[in-house]
Amino acid sequence: MHCGSSPDLNNVLIGRDAEEACRRAAQVFIDAAHESIASCGRFTVSLSGGSTPKRLYSLLAQPEWASRIDWTKVHIFWGDERVVSPDDEKSNYRMTRETLLSRINIPAENVHRVMVETGTPEEVAAAYEAKVRDVLAPKPTDVARFDLVLLGLGTNGHTASLFPYQPTLRVDDKLVVADMVQEVGTYRISMTAKLLNDAAVAMFLVTGDEKADVLHEVLKGKHDPEKLPAQLIQPVCGMLLWVVDEAAAAKLHR
Ligand code: 6PG
Repeated sequence: MHCGSSPDLNNVLIGRDAEEACRRAAQVFIDAAHESIASCGRFTVSLSGGSTPKRLYSLLAQPEWASRIDWTKVHIFWGDERVVSPDDEKSNYRMTRETLLSRINIPAENVHRVMVETGTPEEVAAAYEAKVRDVLAPKPTDVARFDLVLLGLGTNGHTASLFPYQPTLRVDDKLVVADMVQEVGTYRISMTAKLLNDAAVAMFLVTGDEKADVLHEVLKGKHDPEKLPAQLIQPVCGMLLWVVDEAAAAKLHR
């Protein structure tokens, strides 16, 4: 695994279109779940927000896919959340509830949403970190290690809610941070690169021609994670996978 340089293109899966890319991502999700449940009896996953994953979550909710996972053994977290009501249309939790959670049999206690309404953004971030540690790393010596983190890529190179030139990019003594992101004019709660990089599998799902420039810059451009926070995602001892469609990959061969 490359550390300190842009990832190579060997870990890029290209689907003909967004549908095929989501089917490939769904297969990675299922395979990771089967492996984790078989080896340690559960599957811990951190989901991404925004619009790209809607198609993936809707696919996973379809019986032909959902029936292949024992959802009672799955624990769902979010890599980031907007500080809005869980019923707000901008909420990543609401988006996931509508596309996936409301259509599968997952126990409520296995759905660990960011409880944005329970305090200041900093308090919410600290509480979410405690929840992550409680479920993934109960002993102080444990490493909080997700079996799978799903990530998106913003056109400005952000991932989760790690935005360009924000101080949160360099935080390495926390697992979850709160950030007032001027670019979007709201507070965001985000897992840190440290937590995301301890995952067994980090999978980016990137589709659409509007992502072609930034995907080329992240994968083949200068290594500049302050400008392109997605480049921070270099799993320490896990696998990094980019699942993209041809439209997003259009400039990778240049
Ligand atoms: C969020 C996401 C964010 C997202 C990118 C891409 O809360 O917005 O977690 O990191 O993955 O912004 O968003 P789209 O998929 O909508 O392009």
